[in-house]
Amino acid sequence: YSDALRLICALERKCNMEIKITLGDITKVPADAIVNAANPTLLGGGGVDGAIHAAAGPELLAECRTLGGCDTGDAKITKAYRLPAQYVIHTPGPVWRDGDDCEEELLADCYKSCLKLAAEHGCRHVTFPSISTGLFRFPLSKAAPIAVRTIKEFCKNKDIFDCIEFVCFDEKTKKAYETALED
Ligand code: APR
Repeated sequence: YSDALRLICALERKCNMEIKITLGDITKVPADAIVNAANPTLLGGGGVDGAIHAAAGPELLAECRTLGGCDTGDAKITKAYRLPAQYVIHTPGPVWRDGDDCEEELLADCYKSCLKLAAEHGCRHVTFPSISTGLFRFPLSKAAPIAVRTIKEFCKNKDIFDCIEFVCFDEKTKKAYETALED
């Protein structure tokens, strides 16, 4: 009887991961890990990168300086300092050029690299900004389905995360991710 119960609980847990879409400032949303849409230098910038560094404080940049940069599509993890999280996972997204420069694969790689690092560090709740759809000009209508599909595929039949949350900075972005999630 207890084995059956354990099995049912395990199956329950497997289906329990939630993908959430919220509107707001990612630096204010508590999570185990906050993902930063960075650039290959990992030395900060504008957009969400600038907001994360401003909210985390100077120790974040000091730690980033020790990492030696990061390739597009890859990810590196640091502490989160003054942010409401344990970790920041930095991933340089692809710059959108014309769509023939492996941009779509590289964007999917960003999500996979971040989820892999989050899982390795025992993070159950991970927040993502809309990677590459700001300064890097990746079309939102393409980026959102890639992000949602990659996360679903990575988490299928695994009990690794409780919640993966997209924190969108504006209504247009939030709508794009909600639409991608419904498909
Ligand atoms: N919280 C959540 N999302 C945010 C925030 C914030 N505080 N600030 C900006 N965003 C959103 C943008 O509105 C956009 O939807 O993050 C998304 C990604 O935009 P960018 O921050 O411009 O990132 P990206 O397009 O990946 O370009 C990365 O910009 O900031 C520099 O150093 C960074 O060179 C890198 C480039």
